[in-house]
Amino acid sequence: MAEVVIVDSPATGGALVARHIATQVRHSSDFTLGVATGSTPLPVYAALARERSDGLDLSGVSAFALDEYVGLPRDHPESYHSVIHREVTEPLGLDPSLVRVPDGDEATIATAGERYETELDAHGGVGLQLLGIGTDGHVGFNEPGSSLASLTRIKTLTARTRADNARFFDTPEQVPTHCITQGIGTILRAQHLVLLAFGAGKADVIARAVEGPVTATIPGSCIQLHPHATVVVDEAAATRFERADYYRWVYEHKPAWQGL
Ligand code: PGA
Repeated sequence: MAEVVIVDSPATGGALVARHIATQVRHSSDFTLGVATGSTPLPVYAALARERSDGLDLSGVSAFALDEYVGLPRDHPESYHSVIHREVTEPLGLDPSLVRVPDGDEATIATAGERYETELDAHGGVGLQLLGIGTDGHVGFNEPGSSLASLTRIKTLTARTRADNARFFDTPEQVPTHCITQGIGTILRAQHLVLLAFGAGKADVIARAVEGPVTATIPGSCIQLHPHATVVVDEAAATRFERADYYRWVYEHKPAWQGL
């Protein structure tokens, strides 16, 4: 099963994950990080930026983003090209030529999924993939019903996801209707998955992803199929777990050599 780590705050969770990534990067400076957008991974990026100020060199790290909107110009402030540049590439000092985001250009969208898969494969895949989870259970933009074997492709966003993301746009109508996203099969090829969920609004969906059946209805439940998955939640997101006491006990008694 996934290891579930319950922390007292998103900042503590971010620091924990950042420390682990820093260890990986010190071990191999050309580490490949799978990056996610949304509010959830921000504490990880903030803590990694602090690691950088303390001397961690991330300039050899490659990054692959999970997804992108279709039809937003790359330089639109809410395109994931822009968001990843602003929230990840710049503050962490990554080399922009080593950061990839799926191509959401409508003119070439028909081949964009296959091109991204080819790039990922040619690169040798992702070492650690950061994931958030949508209130509808999505990971990346794999909306409920997405094939558990899916590869990078176009998806239609659910009304719920568009409403959740409306906060980033001036009006809800401006949220694009389509996206390109790594598939669940793509995500499962990363060596280590780190799924983060913070706040009471995620308590129900994260419990279903971790403890419910593996089902395309909750795409986040795909983590149960992965040999190395870590789930980091704060107390507010941990209230619906049936086995919370067990997770706490396991983490408290974890051998130091195991790492995250
Ligand atoms: P959030 O989004 O981190 O902004 O809550 C998560 C997601 O949609 O995957």
